[in-house]
Formats: sequence, C-alpha cells, structure tokens
Amino acid sequence: MSEPCPRRLLGKVVVVTGAACGQGAAEAEALAREGARVIATDVTEAPGCRRLDVTSDKEWAALAAELGESYGHVHGLVNNAGITWRARLGEVRPEDFARVHAVNVTGPLLGIQHLAPLMPPGSSIVNVGSTAALTGHYPVAYTASKWALRGLSKAAALELGPRGIRVNTIHPGYIETEMTASAAPAFREANIRETPLGRTGTVDEITPLVVFLLSGEASFVTGAEIPVDGGLTAHGGVKSLSDALRS
Ligand code: NAI
Repeated sequence: MSEPCPRRLLGKVVVVTGAACGQGAAEAEALAREGARVIATDVTEAPGCRRLDVTSDKEWAALAAELGESYGHVHGLVNNAGITWRARLGEVRPEDFARVHAVNVTGPLLGIQHLAPLMPPGSSIVNVGSTAALTGHYPVAYTASKWALRGLSKAAALELGPRGIRVNTIHPGYIETEMTASAAPAFREANIRETPLGRTGTVDEITPLVVFLLSGEASFVTGAEIPVDGGLTAHGGVKSLSDALRS
C-alpha cells in the first residue's frame, strides 16, 4: 500500500487575492488541497470568497485585524488580483494608468504592509507578475504596472529577508482565463506563434509553482522571478527568425 502524500501546507494560513475566478480560484483550491487554511478574497462576490478590494487600505486593515484575532498569524500571501487595460501609448489616459497601477502595484504593497507584521519566519509572499513585466508589451498601463511590481517584489525581498519572510514573483504567459478570453483572437494566435511550446497555458500549470513557493521546499528561494510561459520570454523575440529558417 502506498503512503499518503504529505500535505505541504498543513496548518498554514494563506491569503489569496482575486480568487473569485481564473488563476486566483485555482490557486486557492490547490493551496487548500495541500492543507492550507485559505482565505480566498475578491472585490467581486463569489461563493467562498471574502470581500477585499486590494486598493483599499481600510479593507486590508480590517482583514489583518480579523486574521490576527482568529489565527494570530499569517504564513502566506498570494498577490494575484490584477486587471488589464489594453489602450496603447497614444491613447492611454492618466486616470486609467492610475487605476491599473492601484490594483496591480498598490494592492500588493498594501497586502504586504498589512500582513507582513503577522508573518512568522518561514512565511512566503508570491506576487503574480506577467510576461508583460519582462518585455515591451503594447498595453502600456498594464506593462508599466507589472514592471513596477517587479521592483516592489525586489525591495520587499530585501526588506523582509532578515525576518525570514520570502518574496518571489511568477510571470505567467498566456493562460486561459476570463482575462485572456476578453482579448482579440489575434492576440491569442500571436501568443501561440511566439511560444516555443506552441500553445497557451492553463491555470493548473500555474498552481504547482505557487504551492512550491509557499511551501518549505522553497525555503532558500527569495527575490526570484520565474516565468511560466511556455518559453515565450526565453527567446528574446527571435523565434520568428528560427521559424523562418527552419525549412
Ligand atoms: P481574471 O481576470 O480571470 O481574474 C482576476 C481576478 O481579480 C478577478 O476575480 C477580479 O474580480 C479580481 N480583481 C480585480 N480587481 C480587484 C481588486 N481591486 N481587488 C480584488 N480583486 C480584484 O485574471 P487572471 O487571468 O486569473 O489573472 C490573475 C493574475 O495573473 C493577474 O495579476 C494578471 O495580471 C496575471 N496574469 C494573467 C495572465 C493570463 O494570461 N491570464 C498572463 C500574465 C499575468
């Protein structure tokens, strides 16, 4: 008879933002399967999700107070909530630029500020970036926000390292979710063309990395940036050259 798999996050309290659908919902489920007590949160209502608008300092403060009272500590935070805005450089309005920044950068900042004080050594924070954070991606507000998130992650890894708290960033490529479903079909096709594995990814190909980074298996991994993108960012934009000369 085979031994049951040890659950890697047994007893850990983990907060996931943007968990109503897409990657966040899958992450919350995967973390719970590993034994974590998951606090799934979202700005929109969904079964099993607690309301949290990541841009609200007040709502983060209320969540931190509640978790402090109920559990005394928090071991993990997945800053997953994010929005896109596909206006190009010439059209993007400052108010949209600011709105995207508020969710994608200020949200993770507030989460770290409010929850880190509750985190004992060994805790882990995962920020969800994007291949847009590694490239000159055309939706300028989204791209700029995800590059800024990289900077926040690096600074947080430095600042929280002495307390034994790890901070890492993952960079998904094209993942099939509500967010990408709202893009033009040409965007999906172009992504597949640029991806060495020749396909899009699924939420279930993101969650194992999030589980790993939150677990003790990643105990010496911090400040890292890990693409999960089928190789999209690995070729530096020259896949078309290779494809053109293949025959
Ligand atoms: P999604 O649009 O399917 O889900 C995002 C969730 O975030 C939604 O449930 C939404 O209600 C929530 N959210 C939005 N604003 C919020 C706020 N102010 N406070 C709390 N929650 C809020 O998106 P998806 O695809 O699951 O994306 C998850 C993360 O992955 C995002 O940070 C996104 O930028 C990133 N990403 C997604 C990629 C993809 O191909 N789907 C590629 C690269 C990065």
